[in-house]
Amino acid sequence: MNQSPDQEQSTLPLKVFDDRIFEVNSGINVTTYDVGNHKNRIVSVDNFFAYPEKVRDFLLTIPQQFIPNPSMKPTAWDAKAGFYPGYQTYLSFQIKELEEKIKKIAQIEFGYSGRFINYSFQRIFGHSKVFKQSNWPHCDDSALAGNICLNFDDEIEGETGTSFYRVKETGEEYFHPSTCMYRKSRYCFTPQRMDMDVYQPIVENTKYIRYHLDEHKFNRFNLYEGACFHTAFMEKGKYLNTPRMTLSISY
Ligand SMILES: [Fe+2]
Repeated sequence: MNQSPDQEQSTLPLKVFDDRIFEVNSGINVTTYDVGNHKNRIVSVDNFFAYPEKVRDFLLTIPQQFIPNPSMKPTAWDAKAGFYPGYQTYLSFQIKELEEKIKKIAQIEFGYSGRFINYSFQRIFGHSKVFKQSNWPHCDDSALAGNICLNFDDEIEGETGTSFYRVKETGEEYFHPSTCMYRKSRYCFTPQRMDMDVYQPIVENTKYIRYHLDEHKFNRFNLYEGACFHTAFMEKGKYLNTPRMTLSISY
């Protein structure tokens, strides 16, 4: 008699991914507001996961990849790595219900529908060594970006969340979709600063000023447009021992 795949593998240790821990609370309240001079849409959902502690516990069991990873620069076209200091672990599990809920919110609130949602577990430490570029606002390739805060409320240190910026010189709050390098240099996307510095996201510098902070709270889901100039924000001297933890998405 043929063995089932499970029987064939029964002599090996087998851990099965259970996507039920990512269940979204029923009856969530979706709050939508527009920020900045260009009325950039932000969606916020409190008490998002039904079992946020289980999500956090599960993500903490996965081997984590340290960033900056000296073997791969985040600017490499095929890099699965970002600019933030700490650990960024990219997931490729199918998480159907979560995906459907996020897609529904994106469709209703942003009028956007895409194919895949990419997930990463991000654990960012303050005052770490990073590429200098990490301290400047960035834009994401995806139409939407977002994160679910997985720090318990008593782990949240000072002002933190996602901060949004305006280019002082031009008033732009999102990038012009041009491949012309003069614009990229105006945004300070180029030349990229790949020398090392201490991680300290800005409130204001010579080029940018922050106009909004989308604050973190345990189990809060924030969703915004990837084209807006933004960064993960934390105050100086915070998150030195316990990292800022999020399940981040790009869609
Ligand atoms: Fe981003």
